[in-house]
Amino acid sequence: MRFISSYLCFFLVLVLGFFGSCKYDKRDEIYGSNQCDTTVIYYEDIRLQFEQDCFGCHLAGNGTGVEFYDHTSLKNYAEQRKSLLIGVTNHTLGSPMPKGGEKWSECRVNKLKAWINQGMKRR
Ligand code: HEC
Repeated sequence: MRFISSYLCFFLVLVLGFFGSCKYDKRDEIYGSNQCDTTVIYYEDIRLQFEQDCFGCHLAGNGTGVEFYDHTSLKNYAEQRKSLLIGVTNHTLGSPMPKGGEKWSECRVNKLKAWINQGMKRR
């Protein structure tokens, strides 16, 4: 009996964790654009977006002349070419990025700006 209840408990934690994380992922959809402020969570607002849209083409030695693929390299690049990095994502400067892809929403660009202005923290 004790075995069963601890098993049940473990299962419940799994289920709750699963739904909890889904809800978290869909934050933008649930709360809409009023969540689009300058609060930045590195992993969610920066890392995942770059992983999805940029890192693939900008790995070291890719021949684009622009290399960033993790926190350190992205931070280094942003320190040197801040306006260009922002400009390519909102299509106001340089080559429009993601190359061949869809332009980032204003919200995403604002998060990137905020992250840079707030010192490019890794959290
Ligand atoms: C499909 C491949 C590809 C993807 C995806 C991509 N890039 Fe690029 N990127 C390139 C290439 C190739 C260049 C070299 C310039 C050119 O050919 O347009 C480049 C150049 C750049 C430059 C320099 C622009 C300039 O005018 O000198 C920056 C900054 C940049 N990319 C940032 C990004 C960011 C940020 C993302 C994600 C939002 C991204 N890239 C996604 C291929 C890509």
